[in-house]
Amino acid sequence: MARITAGIATSHVPAIGAAIDLGKTGDEYWKPVFAGYEWVKNWILDETPDVIILCYNDHASSMMLDIVPTFAIGFAEEFEPADEGWGPRPVPTVVGCPELAGHIAEQLVIDEFDITIMNHIDVDHGLTVPLSLVFGQVDEWPVRVIPLAVNVTQFPTPSGNRCFTLGQAIADAVESFPADLNVQIWGTGGMSHQLQGPRAGLINPKFDNAFLDRLIDRTDELRQITRLEFLRESGSEGIELIMWLIMRGALGKDVEELYRFYHVPASNTAVGHVVMRPKTAQAADD
Ligand code: DHB
Ligand code: FE
Repeated sequence: MARITAGIATSHVPAIGAAIDLGKTGDEYWKPVFAGYEWVKNWILDETPDVIILCYNDHASSMMLDIVPTFAIGFAEEFEPADEGWGPRPVPTVVGCPELAGHIAEQLVIDEFDITIMNHIDVDHGLTVPLSLVFGQVDEWPVRVIPLAVNVTQFPTPSGNRCFTLGQAIADAVESFPADLNVQIWGTGGMSHQLQGPRAGLINPKFDNAFLDRLIDRTDELRQITRLEFLRESGSEGIELIMWLIMRGALGKDVEELYRFYHVPASNTAVGHVVMRPKTAQAADD
């Protein structure tokens, strides 16, 4: 039986990807950011899963505004890095897992989540920067990845609560997949940031840290944060935090926080990163 063994959440700032690709991780500005990812880079060496369900958003890199699915899952065998305006990042092709993706999509539809099927999608920094932060510069990604894209670019975006319940449904779907697969779920984006308008540059450490605290065992409170509240408190792009709620919903009621990092700023964004695992998985391991 497949099982979700851990969850990772992290910001996905494109400038972090550029710093990696251009060999600038040792620069004074970037050092403290990358120091915050040393822990997970070591941890993943022993904890590399078979598959990652990677909840992210496309930034109108591959999904133009012609069609904007609320939730979409990648069925392809492979996903190429998207051209984000400076050419595609020089990172490996992402290898998918169509068998598990198909099973999850079917179970989600049975569970009344109407998910869009992506038979082709190029993946942008929302997906590739987190892979680089955790696995570093590699010739091949050591895992298969199922992209799960969420609309945070055009109103109406889904609620945080809907995302949390989607995570619960994903966990149920994974547990009913017969193959013995170690699966992680990742949520990317956030934390507070605003890239546009008069409030561009907004960062709210108080909101972010309260979010991180409540992500462990006060998820009922996080599920009630409205989209307007995300906009007001965490800026127009802070809504990306709803992807973290998919991750958290999939981990079940009780989790152990293995690692937490918060740093302000990287580019225009408050960088947040957590690693969590379900308490039940821990019990099974011990
Ligand atoms: C930045 C952050 C993002 O999440 C993003 O998608 C684009 C830019 C930034 O901080 O510059
Ligand atoms: Fe983003």
